[in-house]
Amino acid sequence: MSEVFTKSMARNIYYGGSVFFILLFLALTFDTSSEVPKRDNHEAITAQVALGKKVWEENDCIGCHTLLGEGAYFAPELGNVYKRFGNSTEAIVGFIKSRPVEGVPGRRSMPQFNLSDEELQAVAEFLKYTSEINTSNWPPNIQG
Ligand code: HEC
Repeated sequence: MSEVFTKSMARNIYYGGSVFFILLFLALTFDTSSEVPKRDNHEAITAQVALGKKVWEENDCIGCHTLLGEGAYFAPELGNVYKRFGNSTEAIVGFIKSRPVEGVPGRRSMPQFNLSDEELQAVAEFLKYTSEINTSNWPPNIQG
């Protein structure tokens, strides 16, 4: 091996490294785009689930909560709340309706959103849908 690090060696490392990582990037992009449709459970997206997502967005639920890890850290993760609430949309509806619970020292409270029954049911169906996405068992525990 030569003792001198030449310009052409540097150039080869630069081009070789670039080509390697561009190919790796393309392969991972291809892998992601072929895996996602198998995992996102899109057949389960009904009109009600779509309305639930709209309710979720319009009320900025993500301003306090995370959903599958994305969002704010003020309030609990909701990606798996359907499972945490015993696989029950009624329990989710009941919870949202009964807020706020005040007067418990040190406990953060969720505001009342005055959602209609249709909106409540839809947002609960949306959270049921998210709990059924294949996330490779993330979050690792039921508390989220
Ligand atoms: C201002 C912050 C805030 C916003 C916005 C908010 N939440 Fe919450 N949410 C909380 C807090 C705080 C808790 C935990 C409070 C408690 O247990 O009493 C909570 C708890 C919950 C829970 C129960 C979670 C559990 O594991 O116990 C559900 C379900 C929920 N929120 C749904 C929603 C939905 C749906 C929206 C949008 C319509 C929303 N939240 C918007 C603050 C918020």
